[in-house]
Amino acid sequence: MKLAFTLNGRPCATEAPAHWTVLDLLRDGLSLMGTKYGCGEGVCGTCTVLADGRPIRACLVLAAHARGRALVTVEGLETEGRLDPLQTAFAERGAAQCGFCTPGMLLAAKALLIENPAPTADEVRDALSGNLCRCTGYTKIVEAVLAAAPGSG
Ligand code: FES
Ligand code: FES
Repeated sequence: MKLAFTLNGRPCATEAPAHWTVLDLLRDGLSLMGTKYGCGEGVCGTCTVLADGRPIRACLVLAAHARGRALVTVEGLETEGRLDPLQTAFAERGAAQCGFCTPGMLLAAKALLIENPAPTADEVRDALSGNLCRCTGYTKIVEAVLAAAPGSG
């Protein structure tokens, strides 16, 4: 099937098998490897990307869902060579260790900050509750999101 959508701010026209998920489309179709394949069952959140500003689990959503939408992956967080404040905060505060969960965490956090520029720690924990991390114990991730919130301080 033919698909046209916006990917990280640029128009994208491509073709994909009808059974592909958004994750297949990104990784196998478009060679964007930043979005990770974890469980493949909607449990771990590591495949999280944004579709029209909302987080989706790319392993669960069919590629056809992308049609006409604006997708953002971790590759699209940087603008004009500058890291997103979330990326900087994750790096500075040790919120990424092995890094496997990090793309999904960043996109889930980005969706939260779009909706709520000044979240509380509980709101951050709630927004990231579907994203699993085996390394950090989550505290540094929550601290990083709070530090990056445009409405903080
Ligand atoms: S790979 Fe999609 S939720 Fe785990
Ligand atoms: S940093 Fe390793 S799984 Fe989160």
